[in-house]
Amino acid sequence: MHIDIHEDQLAAVRSLAGSIAEGIRQAAREGRHYVLGLATGASPIGLYEELIRLHRSEGLSFAGVVTFNLDEYYGLPPEDPNSYHEFMRSRFFSQVDLPLDQTHLPGGLVARDQVQHHCDAYEAMIDEAGGIDLQILGIGRTGHIGFNEPPSPKDSRTRLVTLDPVTRIDAAPAFSGLDHVPTEAITMGVSTILRSRRIVLMAWGERKAEIVRKALHDPAGPELPASFLRDHSDVTFLLDQAAASRLEAQT
Ligand code: GLP
Repeated sequence: MHIDIHEDQLAAVRSLAGSIAEGIRQAAREGRHYVLGLATGASPIGLYEELIRLHRSEGLSFAGVVTFNLDEYYGLPPEDPNSYHEFMRSRFFSQVDLPLDQTHLPGGLVARDQVQHHCDAYEAMIDEAGGIDLQILGIGRTGHIGFNEPPSPKDSRTRLVTLDPVTRIDAAPAFSGLDHVPTEAITMGVSTILRSRRIVLMAWGERKAEIVRKALHDPAGPELPASFLRDHSDVTFLLDQAAASRLEAQT
């Protein structure tokens, strides 16, 4: 488990984008796809901007990349401005040479009686792609990763979940009010995330300092889903100084 603290977010995302670029080029040399697990929210936006910059300035190609997103709000059509489909399209997919048929997100409009089948198929698609080389994550104030709210067991798989009230309050400004925030989502499970070969959790700013401290130092368990990351053999907490400000080694 690595804790990688940078002076600011830009320095951190430059380092991560460089390592993703190297992973993509290495996979291309080996004649295989690079499988990238993607996240939404504010935390990964700078990373997507940096990857787009590398595409434009250095010709980094995403033609051999396959992506799987962590989650999607249940009930939102893909064209909804607040859907994660639209987030990914506008902030990343439309700006690089990634073939859209190599991108995957859970569906927001899957019929309720089809949800289990849809989630099982999502897991199978990840496995068929060879598993995720690198999963990027943010962290919610509840300690969620993806939308694995507390309590989420370590062996949880892709499934329909109910959003925590804190998560809905945090999302309310984007939805112009709490009443418009969906109450459910489809998310990869904790076990789905832990199957990735490498995981990088990004957190920026003072607002994340307390939950980052808990995720790293409080007793691990389903009430703190991000704490399960500690069990993974190649996980990095990529932090700016503000997000790292409450870590025990620093106090
Ligand atoms: C949402 C996403 C999570 C993300 C979290 C934190 O709930 N489903 O994957 O990590 O928000 O968001 P932010 O990065 O905006 O703080």
